[in-house]
Amino acid sequence: MKNKKITRKITQGMYVLTTNGGGCIVDAVSQVSAGDNPLIAVAVMKNNYTNELMHKNNTFALSVLGMDSNPDIIKTFGLNSMRDIDKFKDIKTTDIENIKIIEDSLGYMICEKVDSIENETHTLFIGKLIEADVYKEEEAMSYSYYQEHKDELIKVKTEKGKTAWVCTICGYVYYGDTLPVDYKCPACGVGPELFKRQ
Ligand SMILES: Cc1cc2nc3c(=O)[nH]c(=O)nc-3n(C[C@H](O)[C@H](O)[C@H](O)COP(=O)(O)O)c2cc1C
Repeated sequence: MKNKKITRKITQGMYVLTTNGGGCIVDAVSQVSAGDNPLIAVAVMKNNYTNELMHKNNTFALSVLGMDSNPDIIKTFGLNSMRDIDKFKDIKTTDIENIKIIEDSLGYMICEKVDSIENETHTLFIGKLIEADVYKEEEAMSYSYYQEHKDELIKVKTEKGKTAWVCTICGYVYYGDTLPVDYKCPACGVGPELFKRQ
């Protein structure tokens, strides 16, 4: 393959996929039919916790991220697993049709699962749109924008010349050569296993 990056030119957005019990950031979303209740497909990696939940549940939602949506949503839902943290603890959501919708989004689509297709790495879940709303008529964040700007969007700044440990959940920075084994993040309460040395 000469350059797979051309696939980034397929216009894709940035979404928070939620279903009962969890959710994650997805860009692999596509509307695959039209009409009053169009079909929407979303590809979910098999090793994501959200994949297990999607197999169990009958409904899911996609909250559409805008250019102004808080990048912490991407960090929380895209760089962490619900196996390790409660992603809903610090991100504001509203319950609609018993599914958590991200408030700081452009709007949402709620789907009833109608089919799924397995491949080696992903499951393609197909849902029928049953509820949807627009919160804001603003520009959606595209996946290619995220790829081009991810360093600024999710970067945590640390002081030069000091050893820094960054909390992968909230971005809190601890300075010191070693992180105490019983350390708890003062901002979000997680332990040292969720800190990364910068
Ligand atoms: C920009 C971005 C796009 C992503 N797109 C997808 C995607 O389309 N499908 C998917 O399964 N995971 C995608 N992910 C990865 C999941 O969001 C990530 O693995 C998450 O930590 C899984 O959490 P979970 O274990 O709670 O399900 C994406 C992550 C980012 C940051």
